[in-house]
Amino acid sequence: MPPEPLLRIPPNQDLVVFGATGDLARRKLLPALYELSRQGLLPRRGEVVGTANDELDDEGFRRLAHDAIEEFSRTGLDDRAFSDFAQRLRYIPAVNDPGPTLARTLQLPHRIVYLAVPPSSFEPILQELKGAGIAKGSSIIIEKPFGHDLASAQVLNRALQRIVPEERIYRIDHYLGKETVQNLLVFRFGNTLIEKIWNREVVSHVQLTVAEDIGVESRGHLYEETGAMRDIMQNHLFQLLALTCMSPPSSFDPEALRDEKVKVLQSIHPVSPAEVVRGQYTRGSVRGKTMPGYRELEGVSPDSNTETYIALRLAVDSWEWAGVPFYLRCGKALVTRRTEIMLFCRDVPLHLFEGTGIEALQPNRVTIRIQPDEGISFSFVAKKPGPTVVEQGVRMDFSYGQSFKTEPAEAYERLLHDALLGDHTLFIRQDETEYAWKALQPVLDDMPRINLYPAGSEGPVEAQELMLSGAWHSLAHHADD
Ligand code: BG6
Repeated sequence: MPPEPLLRIPPNQDLVVFGATGDLARRKLLPALYELSRQGLLPRRGEVVGTANDELDDEGFRRLAHDAIEEFSRTGLDDRAFSDFAQRLRYIPAVNDPGPTLARTLQLPHRIVYLAVPPSSFEPILQELKGAGIAKGSSIIIEKPFGHDLASAQVLNRALQRIVPEERIYRIDHYLGKETVQNLLVFRFGNTLIEKIWNREVVSHVQLTVAEDIGVESRGHLYEETGAMRDIMQNHLFQLLALTCMSPPSSFDPEALRDEKVKVLQSIHPVSPAEVVRGQYTRGSVRGKTMPGYRELEGVSPDSNTETYIALRLAVDSWEWAGVPFYLRCGKALVTRRTEIMLFCRDVPLHLFEGTGIEALQPNRVTIRIQPDEGISFSFVAKKPGPTVVEQGVRMDFSYGQSFKTEPAEAYERLLHDALLGDHTLFIRQDETEYAWKALQPVLDDMPRINLYPAGSEGPVEAQELMLSGAWHSLAHHADD
């Protein structure tokens, strides 16, 4: 993605956050806006107007922002920086139609409206904006999942586009804001060696994992509607897949890049339910602490059929990737937190090693550690020092922390800044989300049964049945073992 000239200041505009007192706003949006303000990266003129159902005034909202930033900001709360930021904060209770009040409050001709609310509220809010005459001049940011299947995504996209054109819609998938995800393209297309091995000639299979050790916690009610398929698979994992498989774009222009991602999503064979394993966690122990089972959570039905884990196998039928199985998995309450992409290379012929006692050689492997312990490694075999030919697996490792001596910025900082600048590169286009749903639709139509797994484990053992050869890389070990 484009190398960023430092300190690009977005044009003057207001930012309106619907759902401004909710979890997302408190944990991510307010701390990210505060960081941008601290770095001088917010527009010179422009207010941050929060709206939600809570009956707060401006001061109450500033207090809420203060506490949220104190708790969640990555750099901690600095009183002076906060007081600069707080001057921008306004609050409008949304209890009675907030449109007219918003229209009176917003002074600038342009604004960006962040819908940090459940998808069922999108349309009423858009109508409210339209009714108040402020849809014109507004850009919209919405959070995934975009719809809950292909048909609803199409309906939602049409509803959005009736009110604002596609060029003013920003569909957020925060994985695209992660440094390590953006680096995928630089790693692939900035290094001849890498791009040469990145195809079906060399790669035998690919594993993509988003493992979390946290459970669903207080989000039971919301999660019942999504499950792992809609929460992570259709968006975060499919985006990682698209970036892993795409051909080089002609430039970092947003459309050139998104066109290439779309080609990958179009080339995915519709996933068959027989190639999917779903799981749900039961009570167990994670890092020595007891975690209640999913069905014990508030807001979750005692016989819930929602998956907290999903693994699947799929094929990308392109010239580069035909014949290479891709294995994708994500889950909550697993033994560890780890997001990684692993490319396993083909076996070498062993003839040369006949008589040496070497009967098998570990295939080369490229591991991209998206988080934590961000980095990239390459595993290969080497001759162990000594008089006979004995091999040993070794690895070369790049670590972000060691090379750059800096903490990556929060994904939301980058994404909010880009949206304020009008840069769509790291946002999802309408066709991307629809092709992703299309590939998964056969599974949504015929969800396989749920397999239970204890919290703190690697997920349901049945996931192993998806492997055509080899095994899932164990989550219990270090990312590179
Ligand atoms: C969100 C999901 O999009 O991503 C959450 O809704 C999940 O369920 C989160 O916990 C994971 O994000 P990250 O950045 O911690 O990998």
